[in-house]
Amino acid sequence: MLVLGIESSCDETAAAVVEDGRKVLSSQVFSQIETHKVFGGVVPEIAAREHLKVIQPMVQAALDEASCTLEDIDAIAVTQGPGLVGALLVGITYAKGLALGTGKPLIPVNHVHAHIHGALLGLDAPLESLFPGLALVVSGGHTNIYYMANPTDFELLAQTIDDACGESFDKVAKLFGLGYPGGPRIEALAKQGNPNHFQMPRMVEEKKRLLFSYSGLKTHMVNLRHRNKGVFTDEETADLCAAFQEEALGQLVRKLESALALKPASSILVAGGVAANQRFRAMVDEAINVPVYFPHLRYCSDNAAMIAALGYHQFNTQTHPQSVFSDYDWDAF
Ligand code: KG4
Ligand code: ZN
Repeated sequence: MLVLGIESSCDETAAAVVEDGRKVLSSQVFSQIETHKVFGGVVPEIAAREHLKVIQPMVQAALDEASCTLEDIDAIAVTQGPGLVGALLVGITYAKGLALGTGKPLIPVNHVHAHIHGALLGLDAPLESLFPGLALVVSGGHTNIYYMANPTDFELLAQTIDDACGESFDKVAKLFGLGYPGGPRIEALAKQGNPNHFQMPRMVEEKKRLLFSYSGLKTHMVNLRHRNKGVFTDEETADLCAAFQEEALGQLVRKLESALALKPASSILVAGGVAANQRFRAMVDEAINVPVYFPHLRYCSDNAAMIAALGYHQFNTQTHPQSVFSDYDWDAF
């Protein structure tokens, strides 16, 4: 089954064709990052207008790359939310028009859940060996652990009570003038640093409640910086990055261990920008004793292949897919 995926939730316009939820035949991503850079962040109104300009060429490029036409497509999956509402509406309205015009089923997809399917793209392991599983979404906006009884069931087990993990990397990087996005900058500097030179605070672990917190760690970095009036040698900055990174990532690993103790699982799927961190991958390899799957680097950030992948599973778990997915009476969230 071929699913065309369409993604426009933030500043990437993406389209992809995926076969049977795993095999990526094409994945086209147009990033607006250069347009928004001068503003220091994504401007929602500009993002929506930019999506409008490129959505049609991106869908065509995805079809061309997959050497197919719209006739070959079995269903269309589109990001319903969460995201910037104006940006989402461009993808949704386009996908609704395409579905209506071609008579193909239309599948609305949750963007955060879809990120998890990024870890399955191109993976050969049979589904039965992966589920029930745990999933960790760790990005600039989310630090969530889900229990997944099957590919379309997402039971939220843990989330952050303050900052998201990636957000804390970005804020700390900004504080030390390291640039944006903070994650890759901190990771690069941490490689040259000693993680034991500066001591980091550890959040009080509550036995029964699974939750994340990054504001204490961030505040500690703010205080360290103020104490030194912002003056650090390159060596000290590297040591600070290493210590911060070790604690920020260590929390993810400990919570995954707690979640596994609570809900035995066959695998862990990891998604989101922080999943690109090589130190995190090494820590997980060392501590976790079930198979852990990370997305290929190109599927860590926003893309439409993950949308098509989750759309495929949603379509196949419905008893009467044709009637369910010919409904257009839904909106962005
Ligand atoms: O999933 P993503 O591309 O976008 C959303 O947040 O939706 O994640 C971006 C986040 C940023 O906070 C960025 O600093 C973080 O992921 N990130 C990293 C690394 N690469 C990106 N954090 C730690 N280490 C990295 N190598
Ligand atoms: Zn995303």
